[in-house]
Amino acid sequence: MSFDRSLKIAPSILSADFANFGMECAAIEAQGADWVHVDVMDGHFVPNITFGPATCAAIRPHIQGVMDVHLMIAPVDPYIDAFAQAGADVITAHVEAGPHIHRTLQAIRAAGAKAGVALNPGTPASAVEYLLDMVDLVCVMTVNPGFGGQKFIHSQVEKVRQLRAMIGDRPIHIEIDGGVDPTTAPLVAAAGADVLVAGSAVFRGGSVTNPAPYGENIRAIRGACAG
Ligand code: DX5
Ligand code: ZN
Repeated sequence: MSFDRSLKIAPSILSADFANFGMECAAIEAQGADWVHVDVMDGHFVPNITFGPATCAAIRPHIQGVMDVHLMIAPVDPYIDAFAQAGADVITAHVEAGPHIHRTLQAIRAAGAKAGVALNPGTPASAVEYLLDMVDLVCVMTVNPGFGGQKFIHSQVEKVRQLRAMIGDRPIHIEIDGGVDPTTAPLVAAAGADVLVAGSAVFRGGSVTNPAPYGENIRAIRGACAG
C-alpha cells in the first residue's frame, strides 16, 4: 500500500446490502471506489452491532484494493490479530476506546497492518499529538459513530485544518467519516482530508443488480471536490 495524498473515496458497506457483501464490494470497486470502508461495531463502544473478523475474512477475496477496517469496539487489543489475519490493510481504533491507544497502535503495526486512529466529534485534535510517529491515518468522525445517514457536524472542519497543519510532511492520511456528500466533501477536502468515507451518499439509488448509481454518486462527490 503506497502513500499519496490524492483524493480517495471509500464507500462504507454499512449502507450496502448485508446479504450481498461480496457482490457489493465488487460493484463499488467497478464503479470507481478507491478503498472499501468496513465498519465494525460492538453494541458497547457504540449503540449498534454489525459484524466481526469472520465477515471481514469472507469479503476480503471480493476486494481488489484497500480494505479499510474501522473498529468501533472496546476493548480493541484482543481482536487486532484476528482483523489483521482477516486481511485488513488498514485497522483504525478509537482514541476513546481505552486507556492505552499507544499500545493499540503498536499492536496494529506489529500485526502487519497500517495503523489508524479515530477521533470522535468531542475529542480534540491534540489527542493525537504524541501519536503522529506511529500512525498511518487519522480518522475525523464528522458524526457520532454508530449509524449511517446522520448529519455532518460542521465544527469538525476546523479540526481537520488543525490536523493537516500538525501532520505537515508526514505520510499520514486524513480520513473523514460521517455525513460526507457532494455538499460537505469539498469543505473537508479543502481543509486537508484525502480519504472520504461515504455510506448513504454512495449507495443511495443503486443495488447489486443496478450498480450504475454507485458510480454516479462517487463521481458526484469527487467532482464536487475538484470544482
Ligand atoms: C458511522 C460509520 C460510518 C458510516 C458513514 O459510525 O463509521 O462509516 O457508515 O455513513 P454515512 O456516510 O451515511 O454518514
Ligand atoms: Zn466508519
